[in-house]
Amino acid sequence: MSNKSFQTPKGTRDFYPEEMRVQNFLFENWKRICLLFGFEEYEGPTFESLDLYIEKSGAEIVGQLYNFRDKGDRELALRPEITPTLARMVNQKGPSLKLPVKWFSIPRLYRYEKAQKGRLREFFQLNMDIVGTDKIWAEVDLLTAIIEMMQGFGLTSEDFTLKISSRKLLSAYLDRIQVPAQAKPAVYSALDKRAKVGPEAFQRLLGEAGLVPEQCRDLEDFFTCRTLDSVRERLPDAAGEELAWKEALAELDELFLCLRNLGFGGFLDFDLSVVRGLAYYTGVVFEVYDRKGEMRAVAGGGRYDNLLENLGGRSMSGVGFGMGDVVLYDLLRSKNLVPAFSDRVDYFLVTFGEMNCEALLLAQALRHKDLRVAYAIAGGKIKKQLSQAHECNAAKVIFVGSESAPPGRFEVKDLTSGEQVFRAFEEL
Ligand code: HAM
Repeated sequence: MSNKSFQTPKGTRDFYPEEMRVQNFLFENWKRICLLFGFEEYEGPTFESLDLYIEKSGAEIVGQLYNFRDKGDRELALRPEITPTLARMVNQKGPSLKLPVKWFSIPRLYRYEKAQKGRLREFFQLNMDIVGTDKIWAEVDLLTAIIEMMQGFGLTSEDFTLKISSRKLLSAYLDRIQVPAQAKPAVYSALDKRAKVGPEAFQRLLGEAGLVPEQCRDLEDFFTCRTLDSVRERLPDAAGEELAWKEALAELDELFLCLRNLGFGGFLDFDLSVVRGLAYYTGVVFEVYDRKGEMRAVAGGGRYDNLLENLGGRSMSGVGFGMGDVVLYDLLRSKNLVPAFSDRVDYFLVTFGEMNCEALLLAQALRHKDLRVAYAIAGGKIKKQLSQAHECNAAKVIFVGSESAPPGRFEVKDLTSGEQVFRAFEEL
């Protein structure tokens, strides 16, 4: 025997039946809400041309994903997110697609990042996107779906919060303090890391993005705004700048008003520090956090006005989010909201000696009645078979070929009550 032992690669997980049950529970709840909201499911390849990601995020993205050259010398990458695939698929269909598109998917994703609590190298992520409208109702739809989904898992406004901001607002402010357009992506990326890296590293990142100390101070000051009104007070008088500010503020006002009218006020926080690391967002952005702020983001998303066009399609606005399975599971577990699952078998067939054709025929007939049936493949002593029946959580046992059963009847034992009866096939 070889003395080699193998482990899962760093940042990946095995899903034994216990874990699969939990995963099915998450996926079923996700899917249920998506279908209730009229979203249709889609899926793409698990690897794409590397260019698709570089086009969207710039060359530095290569360090954060798994890329490889295949035997045909093509540069490919395992998908770190599905949004570029979605954009490619929508672009490919062209004008034949009825808009707006409301699509969802639960892809398995791969990111070459430091494996840590809440962040793995392989994970699943629910995605819901609405493409082909710039109306704020799309944001309302998605945020409502998130809240319904989280509530569906048993979470309340005491457990999680939806932090909302706007890239448009931030961009307007960066214009005001004269940050050049080409420096903005680096500033967004620095702002996204602000809480994680600490003040010194943050200032260094801003410096690397080309900001001078005065601009850094202005930015710090802007980030002290805790309400939309305090942002409003900083509204500039210059006519040219006003429009973008006003537009962004009006959108946020409408979004908050609408969600409050729906009774969701308790879940919402206006929070300028939500910037989002990904480059393509242009409008409302949001993230879901556990209320105590102890965990990484459960979900994140926002509006992207230019992604489809940048990937060679028509000019079309979209909005969407991703919710990962890892932090969601941690959160549910910390609140004791993961149910105890039992995959119950309806009948376990016990045979006297070897497994036999009589038992197999009975199993077939019961399965055609939509009943779950298991048996001891390897036969064996009755006691051993009964303990297997308990292990697979069977509700009842049938003793196939029991001599005490009258003709045309089966000896059936209820494993919960211990009651033993004789039943005709029709009564099973
Ligand atoms: P994201 O913020 O990169 O957005 O990811 C969204 C969520 O996926 C995170 O909040 C987290 O729950 C989960 N997630 C991300 N990285 C990891 C990881 N390494 N391990 C475990 N979970 C992770 C996006 O991916 C956007 N494409 C979402 C989107 C869809 N925007 C518009 N449409």
